[in-house]
Amino acid sequence: MTTATTKPAFDLDYSIDDFVPSERRDSQYLYRALEDAMVELATGVPGARVLDVACGTGKQAMRIAARGCTAVGIEASAEMIGVGRWLQPQSEARMLRSLAESLPFADGSFERVICQGSLDHFADPHAFMREAARVLTPDGRLVIALANFEGLSCRLGRLVDATKRRLQRPRPPWRLYWETPEDHNVRGDLPFVRSLGGDALVLERCVGMSMFWLFGPYSGLLDALPERAAGALWRALDRAARSRPQHADMIISTWRRTEAGTCQTTAG
Ligand SMILES: C[S@@+](CC[C@H](N)C(=O)[O-])C[C@H]1O[C@@H](n2cnc3c(N)ncnc32)[C@H](O)[C@@H]1O
Repeated sequence: MTTATTKPAFDLDYSIDDFVPSERRDSQYLYRALEDAMVELATGVPGARVLDVACGTGKQAMRIAARGCTAVGIEASAEMIGVGRWLQPQSEARMLRSLAESLPFADGSFERVICQGSLDHFADPHAFMREAARVLTPDGRLVIALANFEGLSCRLGRLVDATKRRLQRPRPPWRLYWETPEDHNVRGDLPFVRSLGGDALVLERCVGMSMFWLFGPYSGLLDALPERAAGALWRALDRAARSRPQHADMIISTWRRTEAGTCQTTAG
């Protein structure tokens, strides 16, 4: 189920403090694998022009630039851009303040457009999809990584919570991991991802990444195991997630332009 929250508003003030990365192994393994996968997908064409939409501090754009691609990041928050430039002033990646829904580039400017962990923050994800199609070259690709709030981990978390409620056990005062965060405008899941294409883009590939992320007993088990065993377990579940995006923690979708998308751009 995809639920639009009540506030489809632009968030211009995202702060580096809004996301505190977890030190636990399930999170650490997922962050690393996701970032590596997105960089690989972005740099498949040597020397490509790559746009990272809602790039945060631009760390991905900077890795992409270091691989010899022309990397540009756009980002709504001036703070995030500032932190990124301060962290890596020597990077050749360009970062601009702009909105995903209105990209300041000519038609056909990029071979790859990527968007990692951000689409559910956008006020209008469909407007972003149209813009991404417009700025892609005719044979370009858009790659989106989105958290899945209907994966096995979230469903299990809800089930455990419902059982605890029935037993009248106290609830923690903080947001539970399977609840939609306040700064999200939509809740990501597989039907939502599949609905994104519109007339201009067609879904070429959709894979899952990681399983049981943030589910308490699993996080505890990974932290308790010797490192090699923890890594092996994480990778086994990740392999299982790949062909089951509906159950995975992250959904990675790759999009290409439709004939209609290509014609619109060349005619316009
Ligand atoms: C969870 S962070 C992810 C950042 C980065 N992609 C990463 O993976 O580290 C979400 C980012 O989306 C940005 N954002 C939210 N709405 C936006 C919009 N409409 N246009 C551009 N950026 C936006 C926020 O400022 C924030 O930096």
